[in-house]
Amino acid sequence: MGLPPLQLRRLVTAARRAAKDAYAPYSKFRVGAAVLTRSGRIFTGCNVENASYGLSICAERSAVFSAVAGGDRELTAVVVYTPTRKPTLPCGACRQVINEFGPTARIVCVCDSTDRIETRLDELLPRAFGPDRPG
Ligand code: THU
Repeated sequence: MGLPPLQLRRLVTAARRAAKDAYAPYSKFRVGAAVLTRSGRIFTGCNVENASYGLSICAERSAVFSAVAGGDRELTAVVVYTPTRKPTLPCGACRQVINEFGPTARIVCVCDSTDRIETRLDELLPRAFGPDRPG
């Protein structure tokens, strides 16, 4: 079952907007993310880099942490936007963090072309190590 089109449009708009706030002076790769929680709220995030490169955080984790800080711990969808011709999938670290709060969350990756990837977290991170410690 996919996301209702209106909700998806809202998420894509939110992720695009969030990318404008990206702080990416080192990679110049701006990313925006929007997560939908079970309560229907949308939280956004962008990548925030650091002069000490390893301390940079991805847009997806920034959005997930914002949802948790806002009191919502159940993610139903994550939308990632990059201003590129090809969509960008969440990195391994972000997949693990999304798994904590949305093991079956819809993942939609959009960009500046009509190309998009629609999948689920458990397809991107099968047999994940999670809070319920699956074997
Ligand atoms: N980045 C994200 O924010 N999300 C992704 O899905 C891939 C990578 C960021 C991290 C870093 O600031 C920049 O993009 C280049 O890797």
